[in-house]
Amino acid sequence: MTTDTGLIETINGPAEARKSSRRCLMNRRTFLLTSGVTTATVMVAVPTREGMANVPALVATYPKKRIASLSELVVDEPIDFSYPDEGAYAESMLVKLGREAGGGIGPDKDIVAFNYTCTHQGGPLQGTYQAADKALGPCPLHLTTFDLTRHGMFISGQAYQSLPQILLELEGDDIHAVGLFGLIYGRSDNLQG
Ligand code: FES
Repeated sequence: MTTDTGLIETINGPAEARKSSRRCLMNRRTFLLTSGVTTATVMVAVPTREGMANVPALVATYPKKRIASLSELVVDEPIDFSYPDEGAYAESMLVKLGREAGGGIGPDKDIVAFNYTCTHQGGPLQGTYQAADKALGPCPLHLTTFDLTRHGMFISGQAYQSLPQILLELEGDDIHAVGLFGLIYGRSDNLQG
């Protein structure tokens, strides 16, 4: 797996990237970040079978939202929140998995956050967290289950797109949501719900 601080810089600018000691762990081959406010196409390095490759990505400035306190998290007890707004399909969850995960932050790199809406046909994944498998699902509509240790990749079922992962940042004891990997189901633009 590969780390890439360039993504944080792309989303929030060089100043925020310098402030952040957190690194973003990525292994998706492609991702999409969209915005109706400010967008630009940039080249982002992602790993491929042949090595690193540069791919174009649409990037945007997302809101920074405080979600939780690091000191108050309990392993396998999800915290619900909305991101990037309070609109349709924005319901999301943050959880300390107790196991290192792609994109995980914190001392154990195990704190991750995901959108709750199934990427297949929008099934609600609230209440489906499986502590034993560190997964969300099965979706009540067509049974897709998503692996939260591997960027929300689908494990089984009908969906073929990963669950949108929320990019997190740690500042002292405060955990903030600062961006999104992937397009939220039901939206053509993540920031225009
Ligand atoms: S809507 Fe979730 S698997 Fe179909």
